[in-house]
Amino acid sequence: MYIATYANSDMLSQQAALLIVRLASESVVTHGRFTIALSGGSTPRKSYNLLAGEPYRSQIDWALVEVFLGDERCVPADDAESNFRMAHETLLSKVPIAEKQIHRMPADQPDRQAAAQDYVIEMQRVFGTAGIPSFDLIQLGMGPEGHTASLFPHSAALREQERLVVPVTTPKPPPDRLTFTPPLLNAAQHVLFLVTGSDKAQAVHQVIEGEYNPDEYPAQIVRPTHGEVIWMLDTAAASKLSR
Ligand code: 6PG
Repeated sequence: MYIATYANSDMLSQQAALLIVRLASESVVTHGRFTIALSGGSTPRKSYNLLAGEPYRSQIDWALVEVFLGDERCVPADDAESNFRMAHETLLSKVPIAEKQIHRMPADQPDRQAAAQDYVIEMQRVFGTAGIPSFDLIQLGMGPEGHTASLFPHSAALREQERLVVPVTTPKPPPDRLTFTPPLLNAAQHVLFLVTGSDKAQAVHQVIEGEYNPDEYPAQIVRPTHGEVIWMLDTAAASKLSR
């Protein structure tokens, strides 16, 4: 696990954009494309905005990028609460990526089980596997109580071993969502957590330095079997870490 702390969210966002550029080019060099899952929430907005502009934008070969979302709220794609909408407005609408390489979670379908399954089928098609796709990068955020993607404390989805995407009902509105599950998160090559603000400090401390209890602090469940986890924190979010 790598932990980096930055003075403020501008610096963190810049470093996150740089890291994404680096991972994209490494992935393209080693296997010809870059597969990334974006998060929702507000923290990554700045990084996505940066990636949409220079000097970052033209350092990524967008023709070789496949974009997914790690969780989504069950709202229409143009809803203010839609994670896709956020990613599209800040980044995807501003870079030369083809529609077919942008994989929106069909979370607004009425049958949420079917929507989750459809997303897995789409992912497996793109990755060319019948098994668990291994993303080059899954970017995540974390809530003040330790949730990540839409895996909230004490939810059954934390114990999911078979399905890769599941519908969940969360305490944070909007309640109906689809989320990646632990087996999919933990197949990633890299996971990047972007976390800022003093309201996250206690959870950051518990997740990184506390006893392993993902039922209480879901972000602890993210321990990729063959990949690495990178935490980018601002000083406020890192303020309760002992080291
Ligand atoms: C979502 C998320 C969620 C988010 C955290 C942190 O759909 O809400 O993907 O896991 O990353 O809640 O959100 P903030 O960055 O807004 O604090």
